[in-house]
Amino acid sequence: MMAQPPAKSVAVIGAGAAGAVTAAALLSEAAFEIIRVFERRETPGGTWIYDPDPGENVTLKPGKLPLEIDPPLQLPSHLPVDTPPTTQHRWSKTPIYSELTTNVPDIAMSFSDDRFAYGPFVPHWVAKQYIQDYFARHQTDKLLSLETTVEDVSKIFSKQNGSRERWRLTLRRFDAVRHVDVWWQEDFDAVIIANGHYSVPYIPEVKGLEDFLAAFPDRVSHSKSYRVSSLYANKRVVVVGNSASGHDITTQLVQSGLTQAPVYQSRRSRSRWDGDHPPNGVEWKPTIVEYRTSTNEIVFDDGTVLNDVDAVIYCTGYKPSFPFWNSKANGGPIFDYRENRILGSYQHTFLQKYPYSIAIVGLPRVLTFRSFEYQAVAIARLFSGRSSKPLPSISEMREWEKDRAGLVKRERRKFHDIQWENGETMEWLSFLYELAGLPKLEGEGRYPPVLDEKTRWAIKHVRKYPEPGNKESEDNEGWVLVNKEETRKDILHFI
Ligand SMILES: Cc1cc2nc3c(=O)[nH]c(=O)nc-3n(C[C@H](O)[C@H](O)[C@H](O)COP(=O)(O)OP(=O)(O)OC[C@H]3O[C@@H](n4cnc5c(N)ncnc54)[C@H](O)[C@@H]3O)c2cc1C
Ligand SMILES: NC(=O)c1ccc[n+]([C@@H]2O[C@H](COP(=O)([O-])OP(=O)(O)OC[C@H]3O[C@@H](n4cnc5c(N)ncnc54)[C@H](OP(=O)(O)O)[C@@H]3O)[C@@H](O)[C@H]2O)c1
Repeated sequence: MMAQPPAKSVAVIGAGAAGAVTAAALLSEAAFEIIRVFERRETPGGTWIYDPDPGENVTLKPGKLPLEIDPPLQLPSHLPVDTPPTTQHRWSKTPIYSELTTNVPDIAMSFSDDRFAYGPFVPHWVAKQYIQDYFARHQTDKLLSLETTVEDVSKIFSKQNGSRERWRLTLRRFDAVRHVDVWWQEDFDAVIIANGHYSVPYIPEVKGLEDFLAAFPDRVSHSKSYRVSSLYANKRVVVVGNSASGHDITTQLVQSGLTQAPVYQSRRSRSRWDGDHPPNGVEWKPTIVEYRTSTNEIVFDDGTVLNDVDAVIYCTGYKPSFPFWNSKANGGPIFDYRENRILGSYQHTFLQKYPYSIAIVGLPRVLTFRSFEYQAVAIARLFSGRSSKPLPSISEMREWEKDRAGLVKRERRKFHDIQWENGETMEWLSFLYELAGLPKLEGEGRYPPVLDEKTRWAIKHVRKYPEPGNKESEDNEGWVLVNKEETRKDILHFI
């Protein structure tokens, strides 16, 4: 596909791990006149900022999607302007809980140019400190605009710049000194979306749940607001979900010894951590099919009923949200919630409609920080006009999307879940690696990293939790070494 003239100004939305490495890759090109990183929180760190207070108890809305529960803010009619601070809930607090440690070995989780302070699995504050240091180490902290939410991204055209589309960002900064929202706009050649996708919680629709929530507002919560096990002392608890949050929170409740035994865990599917029997202190249940408010009962898919449950913690995940994406100005929505995927995407990173001016870092479920690095380097090279090659034609990009959609449908997988064991991760990283090309002889730019033998070995063999059936597992200071190849969910299914 014909490349557009290189971008001169770039905005990055978000200063989590994805924003951190994106800013570093952009700055290392020394090709952009303006790089701005907008972050709605008071500090970089993204998911890894720990909020001891999960914030107001927002009423959970079963089955509701971000379009309804995280809608765009009403923009002021003229700008710039100061307004009273918005009172709309924006989901900006994080889901990190007190005892959370990482679940990907540090050699594979950290960026290639800097390791975590230690490993393999570290408390959440080590990851947060790492991201904050990363901004300082690369001097990209000076690009940050904190407490600044990108409220609108709209396509505009600039006469000075030929037919290249440009992007107008409407920005809102909370000024804590004057206690006002300060609104203004800035225009950019390109925008990189690194806004994370674990902010807006999802809970499923279940018969009777709405009434149950209304009758017992504090009884049902989402893992996003879970902080400490002590809050559940003497309580009869049901945990719903069997991925990382469901497994970890169930384990913490049991290990605390404070919660009424057993802790009930409602599972829709098996995880790799499940043996043939539940661990001590846990009773497995199937999915919940009904809440009966009048009798205070919860009914499960196998017909069993639990009475007088004190707490239900939904660990049913999150939905990506793009309230700033102006569908009207930009020719349609960016995300399809029925299919759970970006609309018109290419390689989980680019938009077919705007391949040289919009990119997304961090959306697929795959190795986290390290994959963000491959995406960031490829995007920085492409947007600076220095990639090894252009992107393919629109029809080839469409073909990629169609093939991917067909594949995941056949295999009953999610579009943006990139697996490790079937080689997809290496294939995808190779694409980004090859697109990036070499830095300039003079030194500007950044190499995409190698994913060496040691790192690949750690991904395969070093786990936070034992996997029953792996007879060769051995205990190693709180983590586990596994040797046997697995055939159940993908090795990195929990990421
Ligand atoms: C509970 C939990 C535990 C996890 N544990 C692990 C783990 O152990 N290992 C692992 O590899 N991964 C883990 N993850 C995944 C984790 O999300 C990634 O590791 C990584 O931090 C994601 O980085 P990100 O930058 O893409 O998103 P985020 O960290 O979410 O950062 C996005 C940033 O964008 C900001 N933002 C959003 N919208 C706007 C806007 N409109 N304007 C301005 N700023 C905006 C947000 O405030 C945020 O700071 C975990 C996730 C959760 C929820
Ligand atoms: N570092 C850590 O230890 C740690 C701890 C917590 C979370 N995390 C991270 O946080 C992120 C989010 O993880 P998560 O566990 O919160 O979300 P998740 O991985 O998306 O898992 C959601 C869970 O909810 C279940 N579910 C979804 N819809 C359901 C429904 N209608 N009925 C019943 N069950 C339903 C899913 O079941 P199916 O599997 O059947 O779809 C799955 O078990 C991941 O990146 C994860 O690695 C990490």
